Amino acid sequence: MFEPLKSYNALPELPPSADLETKALLKKSKTARLALQELNLTSRTLPSLSPMINTIPLREAKDSSAIENVVTTDAKLFRYAAIEGADADPHTKETYRYLTALREGVVTLKTRPISTKTAVKICQTIRNANIDIRVTPGTALRNQVTGKTIYTPPQGEDLLRKLLANWEVYLNTEDSIDPLVKMAIAHYQFEAIHPFTDGNGRTGRILNILYLMSQELIDLPILFLSSYILQNREAYYGGLLEVTAKSLWEEWVLYILDAVEVTAQQTTDLIKSISRLINETQTLLRTQAGFRQVHEVVEAIFSKPYFTIGDITKSGALGNRDTVSRRLGQLVELGILDVMAEGRPKVFYQPQFLSLLTADRI
Ligand SMILES: Nc1ncnc2c1ncn2[C@@H]1O[C@H](COP(=O)(O)OP(=O)(O)O)[C@@H](O)[C@H]1O
Ligand SMILES: [Mg+2]
Repeated sequence: MFEPLKSYNALPELPPSADLETKALLKKSKTARLALQELNLTSRTLPSLSPMINTIPLREAKDSSAIENVVTTDAKLFRYAAIEGADADPHTKETYRYLTALREGVVTLKTRPISTKTAVKICQTIRNANIDIRVTPGTALRNQVTGKTIYTPPQGEDLLRKLLANWEVYLNTEDSIDPLVKMAIAHYQFEAIHPFTDGNGRTGRILNILYLMSQELIDLPILFLSSYILQNREAYYGGLLEVTAKSLWEEWVLYILDAVEVTAQQTTDLIKSISRLINETQTLLRTQAGFRQVHEVVEAIFSKPYFTIGDITKSGALGNRDTVSRRLGQLVELGILDVMAEGRPKVFYQPQFLSLLTADRI
């Protein structure tokens, strides 16, 4: 029996006993899969890989952190990402660590499947602390407004490790269940186990993206699942609780499938817009600025939302520092780039790229 104030040690192992092949679920998983497929195909057509590796995941980092009230602004986050050794407020740094954790997770996928170890490593990076599975009591989830405890996760290291081992086997065993449905189920289970004292939500959302990659549904970590969750946060918290309290699995899985479908479509649109912009910029660089090696320059300009003379010099795209400085000045004059009025080092950006990235919630 579930009681909010008591450790939920009776959390059932996976798979759930509910029917997860209802008509509604089958229909929704099909449309979500199609949307994801289109996203993946679109991502392969982008003329430059950099925006997808360095920039688009910044948005996921920002939204996923914001779900947990770790809040920063685009400007602060982009500046911190642009300037090596720059200082920033704690929330900006914490948000940036989410991106680092996501990247590290992607690397680990090449050598081992998703495991408890992967989760621990992600959480360590997010929290910048050498933490492990929690061993002491006291972790509980509270309503963010009233402060009332809504859920107390299982307690006891052995039990947590046993539940995690079951979660791990479930994730890595091939079966006939749609991988998106599995992702939704595994995400609930990970959050219900709540293996850490803090950072469970963010770790779980990174694991979602890694799972999609491990199933080869996306090649790169570019889905903004968290933007949907941030906009529908009450339903996210409510949905998780209702699986525990009332076994409302179908509603929960439908919620996650809708998140996948909606964010896949939005990310596809964004990538198409970036793609158009890159092509237009290439043309401008050739025709107006008289550049010949446009591919490398574009790669450098679109590699991060904000960039410095040092970044472009390092990329080798435009020659030595003096040449880079002169060329960037020329691009600012032509209106192809903009430069921040304040601060050192000078920060450049492509204005349309910036507005695409910061557009009011996709
Ligand atoms: N009723 C619930 N049962 C299980 N997990 C929940 C429930 N409500 C919320 N959560 C999860 O707990 C997360 C918050 O836990 P926390 O450890 O503070 O993560 P983070 O530090 O990343 O915020 C939420 O983002 C959500 O994923
Ligand atoms: Mg937290």
